[in-house]
Amino acid sequence: MRKPIIAGNWKLNKTPQEAMELVALLKRELSTVTDVEIVVCPVFTCLRDVEDILAESNIGIGAQNVYWEDEGAFTGEVSAPILKSSGAKYVIIGHSERRQYFGETNETVNKRIKAALKHQLIPIVCVGEVLSEREENKTFAVIEKQCKESLAGLTAEEMKLMIIAYEPVWAIGTGKTATPDQAQEVHKFIRDLLKKIFDEDTAQSVRIQYGGSVKPENTADLMGQADIDGALVGGASLKADSFTAIVKNTCGVKTN
Ligand code: PGA
Repeated sequence: MRKPIIAGNWKLNKTPQEAMELVALLKRELSTVTDVEIVVCPVFTCLRDVEDILAESNIGIGAQNVYWEDEGAFTGEVSAPILKSSGAKYVIIGHSERRQYFGETNETVNKRIKAALKHQLIPIVCVGEVLSEREENKTFAVIEKQCKESLAGLTAEEMKLMIIAYEPVWAIGTGKTATPDQAQEVHKFIRDLLKKIFDEDTAQSVRIQYGGSVKPENTADLMGQADIDGALVGGASLKADSFTAIVKNTCGVKTN
């Protein structure tokens, strides 16, 4: 059975002080949860402060991006060893906002994944179609290209360490969630693709999160789908009550 993983993507929100206040509440509210893996992904400059509070807790810490070189003349970038030493265990790679606004490509996603794995950071790799692609029935073709190119050259053992997040871009921050059936259809497609690229065992063990307007009210229906193994949560991860409710609504839903 795949353990569901709920990760909060805070994006460009929260000062270190606000971040510490939020994780202190989450730590208290979620301390008894054991059947869901919980992650928060603050901005880089909050990692250390958040780690001070979350050390020894059941909540892991992730970063929102990583550069592929370890060090050097790369002004403004941050590397895997630095993230690791700042408390991060996970890193989001290839989020659609990075692809849309910062020129991220499947090729750079691939380099970032390899850098993260080299330093034992768990990549959360995002894929997803934009609305026009869905309307033109190109969703599967887009997802296949993103997965094949982003995951190029990885071994099955490496793939097993990673998490994929399917985030239809039209559902991010819009309040328009994919229906559980729409999401499940793509999750199953991704799992079948992992089987083709790697093998059955790998496909069955990789967790695939759904992302895009996940809220407490739609969590259980989404998580109840066979191939949905958690969520990458944006807006609703910024408040303790909604993030806590999403985690709690995931508990006990998975039986596969
Ligand atoms: P949202 O964002 O939950 O605010 O739609 C999800 C994401 O971008 O990861």
